[in-house]
Amino acid sequence: MKWQGHKVYVIVLMSLAALLTIVLGLYGADYYATPLSDRPFHPQYDELKPSGIISHGYGIVGSLMIITGVTMYSSRKRLRVLSGIGKLPTFLEFHIFLCLTGPLLVLYHTTFKFGGLVAVSFWSMTAIVLSGIIGRYLYVQIPRGIQGHELTVADLDKELGRMSARLMVDFALSAETIERIDSLSDARTGAREMGLVKILWFLVVDDMFRSKAISSSVRALGLRRDAEHSLASAFHARHVLHRRILLLEQVRRFFHYWHVIHIPFSIIMFVILFVHIGVAIAFGYLWAF
Ligand code: HEM
Ligand code: HEM
Repeated sequence: MKWQGHKVYVIVLMSLAALLTIVLGLYGADYYATPLSDRPFHPQYDELKPSGIISHGYGIVGSLMIITGVTMYSSRKRLRVLSGIGKLPTFLEFHIFLCLTGPLLVLYHTTFKFGGLVAVSFWSMTAIVLSGIIGRYLYVQIPRGIQGHELTVADLDKELGRMSARLMVDFALSAETIERIDSLSDARTGAREMGLVKILWFLVVDDMFRSKAISSSVRALGLRRDAEHSLASAFHARHVLHRRILLLEQVRRFFHYWHVIHIPFSIIMFVILFVHIGVAIAFGYLWAF
């Protein structure tokens, strides 16, 4: 998938998730805002209580989305026979879509009432989703090839060299000018000693202010408008690459530890979920059947 196509794919998925959340939230807003003791007298009680036809449906569909999202990504990542189907990052986007929308449906299924053993499953799910957001941010900091395989520092250094050559030819820049603009990204040599929270903070601040600093130093070169724009984009890409080289080892280490939250909590969530489903069926809650 081309970059532009990929961007549209992600925007469509995220818009669908947001739309569903808003529509279902608005549909049940009055019920969710009603105190627990008054809910049995609410006109939507029969359909919106956790075992009601609609909310029970949310639980089933949401759980199926989560199970599908995990199975698809994990199988594509681990099974050699599937390695020819699509690209791993595209599967990851779909994992995120299903495993973000599924938990939202499950949230509506609970009707914001978190009792019993299954509450442990719910809070595990919440921890997984929150850790997922951090994990996704770390994941994109680790440079990968088109198929999603991790690149080494040597690969990145080579890419940096290719970029320098292109800048010298396409924009007739001297090595000193490139070095001067690069120094904006080189200034954070202390980055190698930072812990996880500091790194996340550094990345967020860097993402927010990088554009400004690079754009103003490119503007100072006094180029034509269109050339200025493409040079600024080239330097942004270069800066991101520099930063990735600088932080590669730490980010990889943190990402390794990150699996310790995301995966074991998934196991806890699924085990309790299956007990919850068993108990529901045993008590005769068979949804529409
Ligand atoms: C990760 C997925 C799920 C989570 C976290 C979850 C969580 C919950 C919670 C917190 C409640 C409310 C408990 C209370 O009344 O205080 C509930 C109720 C219920 N859930 Fe789920 N649920 C999930 C999936 C499912 C699925 C897939 C089914 C059906 C097969 C299901 C069937 C039910 C039923 C029937 C009730 C109502 C039980 C009653 O009123 O006594 N749930 N669930
Ligand atoms: C209840 C929801 C979720 C569950 C149960 C879940 C479960 C999992 C599991 C089991 C894996 C490991 C796959 C493997 O290595 O075989 C995984 C990977 C991953 N998940 Fe989730 N996930 C959920 C939601 C999310 C969300 C909401 C995000 C991001 C916003 C996310 C981001 C990631 C990332 C970045 C990986 C890739 C790890 C890698 O390939 O090294 N997950 N997830």
